[in-house]
Order: sequence, then C-alpha cells, then structure tokens
Amino acid sequence: MTSSSKEAIADRLAEARRRTHELIEPLDDAQLNRVYSPILSPLAWDLGHIANFEELWLVQTIGKREPLHGELGRLYDAIENPRKMRGELPILRDAELRSYLADVRERTLEVLDAVEIDAGAEDPLLREGFVYEMLIAHELQHQETMLQLLQMADRYEPLRSVGTEPVPPGPEMVGVDGGTYEIGAPPTGFAYDNERPRHAVELAPFEIDRTPVTNAAYIAYMEATGVEPPLYWEGDAEAGWVSVAMGRRDPVDSAQPAIHLSWEEADAFARWAGKRLPTEQEWEVARPSLEAVGQVWEWTSSDFRAHPGFEAFPYREYSEVFFGVEYKVLRGGSWATAADVMRPSFRNWDLPQRRQIFAGIRLARDAGR
Ligand SMILES: [Fe+2]
Repeated sequence: MTSSSKEAIADRLAEARRRTHELIEPLDDAQLNRVYSPILSPLAWDLGHIANFEELWLVQTIGKREPLHGELGRLYDAIENPRKMRGELPILRDAELRSYLADVRERTLEVLDAVEIDAGAEDPLLREGFVYEMLIAHELQHQETMLQLLQMADRYEPLRSVGTEPVPPGPEMVGVDGGTYEIGAPPTGFAYDNERPRHAVELAPFEIDRTPVTNAAYIAYMEATGVEPPLYWEGDAEAGWVSVAMGRRDPVDSAQPAIHLSWEEADAFARWAGKRLPTEQEWEVARPSLEAVGQVWEWTSSDFRAHPGFEAFPYREYSEVFFGVEYKVLRGGSWATAADVMRPSFRNWDLPQRRQIFAGIRLARDAGR
C-alpha cells in the first residue's frame, strides 16, 4: 500500500471523527453523561469506547505502545460491561474524555506513518489495511447507536432523518428464480468475519416486496387487530398518530416506511399480511435489484449463525459469541447508517424483542402462492 493510500486512510479516519463531533456538537457534558435507558449506553461511554477501541488496535496492537490510562480500557470492554451498568462506571468524562479522543488519534497517526501496509503484508491485520477499515467502520456504527439514544434527548436536531425514496412505478413484488446463488463477502476487500466465506446456497423461487412496509399499512394492521403502535408513537386527538422523539411531536407520515418495530412485531405483521419475512439468504440474493434500501434496517427470519467454514477474525467477541438462536439478522441499513457500512453482505443482529433500533419490515413469500 502506497503512502497515498495511507493518506486516504488518515482522511477517512478524520471524516469518521468529523461525523462523531458533528453528532455531539449540540450537546453539553450533562447530556453526554446522562443515562436515558438501561438498554443504551450514556454517550460518554460510547465516545470513550470509540477512542479506547482505536487505542487498543491501532496504538497498542499495531504500534506496540503502552495505553495512555493504564487499566482504564477494561471499562470500555462491551462484553465485560453490559449496557445497563455503563452509567455507573468511573469512565472518562467532560474535558478528560475529549483529550483522550484527541490524544489517541495523534498516536494513531504517528503509528500509521511508521507501519508497512500493503496487499501482501504478513500481518493479516495490516493486509489491505484491514485494521484501519475495521476502526473506521466501528466508529461509523457507533454513531448509529448514539442516534438511537438521541431519540430520547430533548430538542436534538439530527442532520438527516427517515424520508421517502421515490420508487418508480411497478408491481408490488418482484420474483426471484430458484437455483444456486453465491452469498457472503468476496475474499478480498474489507468485510467482517461473519460475512465470510462466500458460499453457495440453494434457494426455492420466491417473491419479495419492492419497498418496505409503510406507516399507512402498519396503521391499517393496528386498526384491524388492536396491536400496539411502534415505539415513540402516541395517539393524538387532532393529528391521529404522532411520533414523539427528540423532543418533537411530528405527525406520522403515512408514506414513510414503518420504523422502530421489533422482530416479533415484524413477524406478526408478515403473518397477518399473508406473507413472511425473507430469509437473510433471500434478502442478499434479491438485494442488487431491490429498491428503497437504506431507510430502515430490515428484519429477516434468520437466526444469526456462522456461514459454513467461518473463522473468527480478528477476535471472537465480534461475532462468534453471538451466534445461535438468540439473535435475529437484520439486513440493509437505516437513515442513520453510514453509506460505507451498507454493503450487500453486511449482517446486523439484535434480540427479537428490541425496538430501539431503526428497524422496519420487508415482506416475502414463496413463489406461486
Ligand atoms: Fe463497539
């Protein structure tokens, strides 16, 4: 890898950090430290964790340097410290937190300057700049988690929000032929361990909706069955349904995709509609021609499992410890997801009852039904 691509890495690290700063710029220290929900970290923890993860991989592991704050890193280990405990931890706060972010970044750039990165690098962490790509993706993904919490912050104005994508007219569903398809990330280029190896899957013919389920369709379902509204909705005598988030009350836009629904709700809706959730393999095969991706994460019917031949890299705790029947896979990406993260093979996962994530529904069915 040439020095110009080292410059490209430095620029992308800087761009991810600029987005983080932009996100927290309107907030004061009290808001950064506040615990809003037991299932979400205070923002100060996320920020310290972003810096600590960078220090751990780019300064300690790659640069062989000592950490700036001794054992502090343990407080930012996501597995050791469940979300409900993070507000109580003696983490860095306020000015100390901001200096930590800046000091780690300074050391990261010194190390980057000194390392050899090229496609044939012996260390798999450095090959094709893997570890740098991982750190950029990590920071971008935490921005989305922080936006989940910011739904509960008063008078927060996000730079983007969920919208409606113009979709060219056409049928409600598209058909996909049965057959053998390749899914998963190709062997080169950045991807997480759980996206590999690329492998063949056998699919029966199926049909999949061109667009995610809208608020209008979800309201019709609520009226027909009496189920609960999505998270952050309230009934309003004048406006009908309003969404109450970030200190604002906005009338629910019937044309937008329904959002803040759990897997359990998505699955129940699909059955009511006479369809089903797609498997993640179906989703990935249909993805190149699917429209309106990127407004809401899309629940699939699949449990989060290893692709056949999976190897943990660079650490077991990224994916392997979550494999099993407990978590369901989401595909695509939401309005809060950075474009860099939305590759067709990217797999997100969460518990089936969770609604704080920006998740909605796309429906499928077996062909010929
Ligand atoms: Fe993380």
